[in-house]
Amino acid sequence: MMRRFAWAGGLALALAATPAVAQASPAALQAAAPRTTLLLHTDRAGPRIAPEIYGQFVEHLGRGVYEGIWVGEDSSIPNTRGIRNDVTQALRQVKVPVIRWPGGCFANGYHWRDGIGPRDKRPRSINAAWGNVPDTNAFGTHEFMDLLDQIGARSFVSVNVGSGSVREADEWLRYMTAPAESSAGAERAANGHAAPWSVPYVGVGNESWGCGGKMTAETYVAQYRQYAANLRTFHGDPVKLIAVGADTDDYEWTEKVMAGTMKSRPHPTPLAYINPRPLLWGLSLHFYTFTGNDWYAKGRNVGFNRNDWARALGRAQLTDEMVRRHAAIMDRHDPEKKVALVVDEWGAWFNSEKDAPSALYLESTLRDAVIAGLSLNIFNNHADRVRMANIAQMVNVIQSLILTRGKEMVVTPTWHVFDLYKVHQGATQIPVDVDTPDYVQGTTRLPTISASASRDTAGKLHLSIVNLDPDKPAPIDVVASGLSGRRAQASAITADRIDRKVEFGQPDPFLPTPVRGIAINGDRVTLTVPARSVTMVTVE
Ligand code: AHR
Repeated sequence: MMRRFAWAGGLALALAATPAVAQASPAALQAAAPRTTLLLHTDRAGPRIAPEIYGQFVEHLGRGVYEGIWVGEDSSIPNTRGIRNDVTQALRQVKVPVIRWPGGCFANGYHWRDGIGPRDKRPRSINAAWGNVPDTNAFGTHEFMDLLDQIGARSFVSVNVGSGSVREADEWLRYMTAPAESSAGAERAANGHAAPWSVPYVGVGNESWGCGGKMTAETYVAQYRQYAANLRTFHGDPVKLIAVGADTDDYEWTEKVMAGTMKSRPHPTPLAYINPRPLLWGLSLHFYTFTGNDWYAKGRNVGFNRNDWARALGRAQLTDEMVRRHAAIMDRHDPEKKVALVVDEWGAWFNSEKDAPSALYLESTLRDAVIAGLSLNIFNNHADRVRMANIAQMVNVIQSLILTRGKEMVVTPTWHVFDLYKVHQGATQIPVDVDTPDYVQGTTRLPTISASASRDTAGKLHLSIVNLDPDKPAPIDVVASGLSGRRAQASAITADRIDRKVEFGQPDPFLPTPVRGIAINGDRVTLTVPARSVTMVTVE
């Protein structure tokens, strides 16, 4: 059966079958898989793809911060002011736009004052969210801001609503953003940073329906409004507040939080100094990929079989339904789409087979790359509403871009996907209709091909294609009316097996390789993408 998928809920177009491609690689011709057609609506200007869709999430959890980022100034691991250089170099390369910190569930017990001042005087706290392990607080506000400076990213700080207060959150924002002439700014200056920082994004709590307070939506709305009315920053862009959103398919939460936060009573004196910004800039969504749909049976991370592969990809594909349905609720309350859907936790979360289970360290396989490509295509295709996403988590935790083992470091297949996809950051989305055969494995039936496209400011067209089929290369016809490009090239990430993993001290098996046999003929580009792959096509 062929499936026709239209971009963002529009009508799919039935396209005439297209002739076989003479230039396809010999392997592809042997497999003779049915063709996929990608119709690019180059004449329709889509929204800008917010760079922040390629955002990261870092939590005090396992070796995510300590060892993964922070090694200390005296470490034999090369570092800049305690932050490891190999990691910052890899993060700079993928152009990380924003980092969410310090959690996660950890944020619900974090007291920012523990993480400022001379490091040898900072309290030793207990990370009650993740295994009751000690936290030296050596990595605090100044170190986080230094990390951002070193990689050129912006801050997304989650304030503590679980066990904190409006006053504590307000004082933290003053500490970070107030001028040095104020007491809050003077304290920051005394701790080594006279200039205020910009804090563009502030998350008001984390998972307040769960680890962040076990609140009902009504209770959270009341709390949120109090935080939102009182939190402000004093430097840089006006603060963008992000409310705690739903877990997975909790549509009732989205409905109630939107209904409860969109409106506020107008102030009788609508002057700038009354703080006239909207109560809400964004609403979050947390959605994780397991093998299937059971939070308590996430499945194996390595050494999995074909059914596991397909079931995990089926779960990742559900991201599209989650985004569409939450966005539809938001549309009713906010038809102008002013409020962003912020998918501030997403990623492939399987059972940990190394380290303590509470450390959530996962080895990384080709399947993660395919899940990343698929998920990022979905976010790109919903760029009208999704204006930030933060993969969980940047280093050594869940679906990481980077893994470390002492002084060693490797980049994961997910890192390669972020590297390939960075061309979409800030580009204009091009709507794509996908007409593709089904990939069937056991009881799982999925569209074989996922795609998203954009045009950058230099006029180059970028098309990312994910082939879910573990065995068959996919012949693709790209039809783009008015295509003016003369040259096309493509690179693909794949591996010899679906569960190939990256290993320390071994050659990287996921380096992108050129796709041969790509051809342009008028408004049509033809190519064959490898089985089990993520491919980026560029036409200029
Ligand atoms: O990312 C790991 C955890 O998953 C986060 O701390 C929490 O917000 C979510 O449940």
